[in-house]
Amino acid sequence: MLSLATLLIATSAVLPTAFAHGGVLSYSWGGQWYWGWQPYNSATGQTTIQRPWSSYNPITSPTDPTIACNDNGAAGALQLTGTVAAGTPITAYWNQVWPHAYGPMLTYLANCGGSCTGVTASTLKWFKIDQSGLINGTVFNGFWGDGLMIAQNSSWTTTIPSTVPAGNYLIRFETIALHSLPAQFYPECAQIQITGGGTLAPTAAELVTFPGGYSTTDPGLTIDIYGQAAETQTTYPMPGPPLYGSGSSGSAPSGPTTTSVAPSSSKVSSAAPTSSAPSTPGTVAEYGQCGGSSYTGPTACVSPYKCTVSNAYYSQCLP
Ligand SMILES: *[C@@H]1O[C@H](CO)[C@@H](O)[C@H](O)[C@H]1NC(C)=O
Ligand SMILES: *[C@@H]1O[C@H](CO)[C@@H](O)[C@H](O)[C@H]1NC(C)=O
Repeated sequence: MLSLATLLIATSAVLPTAFAHGGVLSYSWGGQWYWGWQPYNSATGQTTIQRPWSSYNPITSPTDPTIACNDNGAAGALQLTGTVAAGTPITAYWNQVWPHAYGPMLTYLANCGGSCTGVTASTLKWFKIDQSGLINGTVFNGFWGDGLMIAQNSSWTTTIPSTVPAGNYLIRFETIALHSLPAQFYPECAQIQITGGGTLAPTAAELVTFPGGYSTTDPGLTIDIYGQAAETQTTYPMPGPPLYGSGSSGSAPSGPTTTSVAPSSSKVSSAAPTSSAPSTPGTVAEYGQCGGSSYTGPTACVSPYKCTVSNAYYSQCLP
């Protein structure tokens, strides 16, 4: 009998080397399937919600002009827009089986301020709505967001926050691979219209441009996962701005007037709740992780949020 490993080796041997990398090939939400752009087909006639992108090769500079959407960032000639209600989980599928298990997963939104078609991605301001870095273990041999993405059928599910104002957005799913340096960036974007929603605009500190949101000196992008320090390091500094909704106003938080619970960044270090976090019921904030097959942290949401299953691997506190 042919083992899975044998099959994988046999498969990779016959594929062109470009297929060692890849990108987001499709999306799904609400029971609908949305095919992405096919970078190796003729652009003529392609009609998809995904922004055109050019190559399976990684972007290897955090300041690359194409880092917004893995291309010049323009819409396609027959660009579509997907409609998604705020509060809906969106799943992005990378090509299978995604090969890079070490590094973070990140999802961003950018409001186009009107129709997105005609808007170039590098002119937009992005805010981060989801991230998963080092989940457990050490930087050297731990389990990362990227590994979870692979375990989840090479896909990643992010829920559109119900607080995001309705409007036209680009959604940018990204996996960053740290197995070699420079770090490899694999971002793709889709054009969506968010309906419903709330009134919580991202703060200035939560907004970045791409390029601009990352720098060549970010510790999370220059980290040597094979170095000696990595063998004992159990925290990972996430690249990019603070998460949307984390209440970051741009200056360091000052005196603790109220004990605010950790926001959804708890997903990043779910296995290691901070010593000060009480493990009593009702501690997980809105959008925080509260369940999932590999999750070991607190499971009760602060009132009035309810723990809602996104998929077998991930539940979060939603209104
Ligand atoms: C896994 O992902 C592929 C797309 O890459 C999709 O066709 C398939 O339905 C997914 N399987 C499950 C169980 O979600
Ligand atoms: C880390 O999480 C993964 C996924 O749940 C699990 O399989 C693994 O055993 C965990 N490792 C450690 C060291 O806790």
